[in-house]
Amino acid sequence: MKMLRPMQAADIDAVVDVIDSHDDDDAAEARVSFEANGGIEDQYVLEQAGRIIGVTGYATPPGCDQTHWLSWTYVHDDFCDQGLGRQMITELIDHLRDQGGRKLFIKVSDYAEKDDAGNKVCIYAAALHLYKSLGFTEEIVLNDYYDDGESMTILGMRIATANSADASGPVITAEKPKVQFNSIFEISETDDSYSFGWHADAKRQFDVADVKLGVEDVQNRDGRAVFLSFPHNYEQIADTLLTAGFSFAGMLEDYFEDGIHEKHFVYTI
Ligand SMILES: CC(C)(COP(=O)(O)OP(=O)(O)OC[C@H]1O[C@@H](n2cnc3c(N)ncnc32)[C@H](O)[C@@H]1OP(=O)(O)O)[C@@H](O)C(=O)NCCC(=O)NCCS
Repeated sequence: MKMLRPMQAADIDAVVDVIDSHDDDDAAEARVSFEANGGIEDQYVLEQAGRIIGVTGYATPPGCDQTHWLSWTYVHDDFCDQGLGRQMITELIDHLRDQGGRKLFIKVSDYAEKDDAGNKVCIYAAALHLYKSLGFTEEIVLNDYYDDGESMTILGMRIATANSADASGPVITAEKPKVQFNSIFEISETDDSYSFGWHADAKRQFDVADVKLGVEDVQNRDGRAVFLSFPHNYEQIADTLLTAGFSFAGMLEDYFEDGIHEKHFVYTI
């Protein structure tokens, strides 16, 4: 790392101030995530003249081959539009590439606030512009994900060349693990969007009745929607979910490994 240095526990207050210069709700959520066990692992700060003015980092989901998610990425409002965000993210991507990183994903909300003239201004417009100009492309848009009228766009970028043995690409076989749900939870950073936890070594595969029971539980909790995702090569899952009233919402390419995508489904209540 050149301009970035690893974040320390003592940096948390200063980093939260950086985020708070844009959004106090995000600042509060970020504090909780940084203070959690392992919360500052793989997080980096940008310091200028002894002051922390930027933060970025990544998270690594389990069960995937060299897949990463960009985490809290902010430049203090007083220092924006000087090229610092671009430099920070470029340095982070170089670091991941050096470590063998394969794909990097980012979630962006389309949340908009009204300015003094009453015009709607998307507060993440600069971030979206920046990510696209760095080479990220839109892979999925999940409507009403964060809240009614607030969608989540997931952008992805390949940071290493495809790792297939030959030019025809990796060989993908269908799998039939017995998948069963084991929890129902409200998705963090959302208002009333839910998901089901699941595991793939169950005694029997979930059926339409199981899905409907889960949806009913979410209804009872005043949930708005259920978002689920699975490896695309798990057979039978899509049919069961579609029969139970879910819709196919899109796919993250090469999410788990080259050739194994992540299929997303949504049920709107
Ligand atoms: C996203 C962020 C980190 C970028 O940091 P930065 O130091 O301002 O970034 P840079 O100066 O390198 O680049 C900003 C780019 O956005 C462009 N930009 C600025 N305001 C914009 C707007 N309202 N709409 C579209 N593009 C905009 C700038 O012109 C520049 O693009 P260019 O390099 O092609 O000219 C910073 O804006 C930020 O902290 N935003 C709030 C938090 C956020 O959105 N985080 C991401 C959450 S997913």
